[in-house]
Amino acid sequence: MAKGRIFSGIQPTGIIHLGNYVGAIQQWVKLMQNYECIYCIVDYHAITIEYEVTALRDNIMEAAVTLLACGLDPEHCTLFVQSRVPEHTELTWIFNCLSPIGDLERMTQFKEKSQQHREDITMGLLDYPVLQAADILIYKAGFVPVGEDQVQHIELTRRIARRFNNRFGETFPEPQEILTPTSRIMGTDGKTKMSKSLNNYIGILEPPDVIWEKLRTSVTDENRKRRSDPGNPDICNLFTIHKVFSSADDSARINRECRTAEIGCVECKKILYNNMMAHLQPIQQKANKLRETPAAIISALNEGAERCKKIAGQVMQEVREKAGIR
Ligand code: TYM
Repeated sequence: MAKGRIFSGIQPTGIIHLGNYVGAIQQWVKLMQNYECIYCIVDYHAITIEYEVTALRDNIMEAAVTLLACGLDPEHCTLFVQSRVPEHTELTWIFNCLSPIGDLERMTQFKEKSQQHREDITMGLLDYPVLQAADILIYKAGFVPVGEDQVQHIELTRRIARRFNNRFGETFPEPQEILTPTSRIMGTDGKTKMSKSLNNYIGILEPPDVIWEKLRTSVTDENRKRRSDPGNPDICNLFTIHKVFSSADDSARINRECRTAEIGCVECKKILYNNMMAHLQPIQQKANKLRETPAAIISALNEGAERCKKIAGQVMQEVREKAGIR
């Protein structure tokens, strides 16, 4: 493990949006060069809220297709589906017995999701971060590349690791999050974090006309009411996205010309659309190609799961011994 081990995960929700891509996946791809990377499609997390049984399997494949199209390379990282490695849920149980309920009730994501799903607040939803801690620690991963919304869950992971180590002896590292400079992308409403559940997202594989329509109607600096009003890129979500997809020159020009009202929002959005599509279109083309060979993807996922089972099996054995189980 000379290079240090990375673990991260994504839920198979059926779409991967710009927030997932910019906040997490872009750096997953970069990190493959310098770390031993394990990336997971977390189907058990996806069932913590109501879901369509028949859609889940398709969504898992679609997540794999999208991740590979974005540049994950099974030769240089391990990609697998969480439920294929049962040690994740076994370790969750041990961690459950070390996790005060108060810690879990305080999680921002739990509070938000329980607002959204008032009728359906399950143990699974409350336990979501404990399963996430088990995902990471079953591989003794040291680093976790995520968007800003997940930092609280990584802090909890460190607390769980510390509690286990204090109780049963030094076993787990305390993993650190790795954030990108743009670790929080707001939705097309400009107010809330981009997410599938809030329907304020731009999917990276959506057809160009859909992407343009979503961009065209995205909220920018709301103080800029007329074309002649100067704008403030510092509070405009689209400028954040410009900095990811547009060249330094384009970004600098927009930054300047928005403040003096030389450029209007529609023109600015057109530039962003062109730069973004130049980046996304090759990914979309690759995804279309990958969909033609599902057997190759299934085989990569199977190989990934086999590799993970070996590591997870050893760590679980150590955990059982230390905790006095069997
Ligand atoms: P998920 O599928 O909700 O999100 C996947 C990744 O995308 C990031 N992300 C964002 N980043 C910036 N701006 C946004 N608007 C935005 N929306 C999502 C998330 O931070 C995440 O990195 N709980 C995890 C899944 C998980 C996991 C793990 C992650 C399960 N086990 C172990 C790391 C390690 C999640 O949020 O998935």
